[in-house]
Amino acid sequence: MAQHSSFLEVAWLLIRGELPSQEELDGFRDEVTYHTMLHEDYGRFIGALPKNAHPMPVSAAAVGALATFYQEPETAEHVQRSIVRLIAKMPTIAAQSFKHSIGQPAIYPRNDLPYCSNFLHMMFATPCEEFEVDPVVARAVDLLLILHADHEQNCSTSTVRMVGSSMANLFASISSGISALWGELHGGANQRVIEMLEQIRTEEGSADVFLQKAKDRGDTTRLMGFGHRVYKNYDPRAAILKKECRTIIERLGGSSELLDIAMRLEEIALGDSYFIERNLYPNVDFYSGVIFKAIGFPTNMFTVLFTLGRLPGWIAQWCEMRADPSFRIARPRQVYTGATKRSYPKKR
Ligand code: ACO
Repeated sequence: MAQHSSFLEVAWLLIRGELPSQEELDGFRDEVTYHTMLHEDYGRFIGALPKNAHPMPVSAAAVGALATFYQEPETAEHVQRSIVRLIAKMPTIAAQSFKHSIGQPAIYPRNDLPYCSNFLHMMFATPCEEFEVDPVVARAVDLLLILHADHEQNCSTSTVRMVGSSMANLFASISSGISALWGELHGGANQRVIEMLEQIRTEEGSADVFLQKAKDRGDTTRLMGFGHRVYKNYDPRAAILKKECRTIIERLGGSSELLDIAMRLEEIALGDSYFIERNLYPNVDFYSGVIFKAIGFPTNMFTVLFTLGRLPGWIAQWCEMRADPSFRIARPRQVYTGATKRSYPKKR
């Protein structure tokens, strides 16, 4: 699908379970396009948050706030509309929170642009001059979103299901998923990978030193972007992204220094018994940040880009759970192994 599909086509497949016909895809694109605008009051909502806020909690808050703008009963028809609204408005929310953080005016969506080009335009255009979206860059973002679209019961997806299982609405459930994704052991790893590569770049020759620390059990440092609970071999998404890194850097004419460091780290790690014995390989986050960085996304937006990609997966999982006839509220059991009877402190 990374090779042959568009992100919206993948979104339809995940949510509906079948690939769309051309007519269905065109209809879906049109619907998404016409729901990209945010309620004008969003400007005030996002504007009230601190400028230096990380865009992940801003996105989580803004998606949660959709539930306040669209207080409709949860009929099948309204759920379908909420799905379209989420997919349509998420890029606008992401771009608007970025613009707020740098003190620039929000850029309205443009209905003449495809999904990813529209997002790039809202991110990087200003009202002062024309901004042309490079179609190669737009395709790279589309590819990145496809590769992030779903990955079964990871931390954020399970969170979406858990919250949705109480009959919380779709916006509230997705907002919780965004919060879960933010953590550095999950989606937040893509930001941490670039910070790690930049640290290694400034401290010359430190790739080996860094790996020593990552291997030291007394040290909490980890090789970010490596390891996965499910993949005990090379993450196929990382393989596609590694190839795409070179194409994008060559296209944009940027420095390949961070990519070179990442490849060097991978080479050393894959030949090291510590990583071999534990089946630790690059995951999706290891190379994605290099591409985001080359395109010009600020580092703290990387996990928001992951959010854009994961959205259809979360939605599909939420819908699947709700449609299951044996659906019940999630309720993990807990076995208490602590102390039993305790007395109040004496002077009470
Ligand atoms: N660097 C160094 N050592 C590692 C790493 C790493 N990146 N990942 C795992 N290990 C080691 C652990 O220390 C442990 O060693 P031990 O057996 O000597 O105690 C062993 O490998 C197993 O690790 P666990 O933490 O038990 O593996 P788990 O499946 O719980 O964790 C996780 C998976 C969280 C992804 C982990 O590999 C990690 O922290 N990676 C770095 C963060 C990262 O890249 N996260 C993104 C994952 S992909 C995603 O969520 C989109």
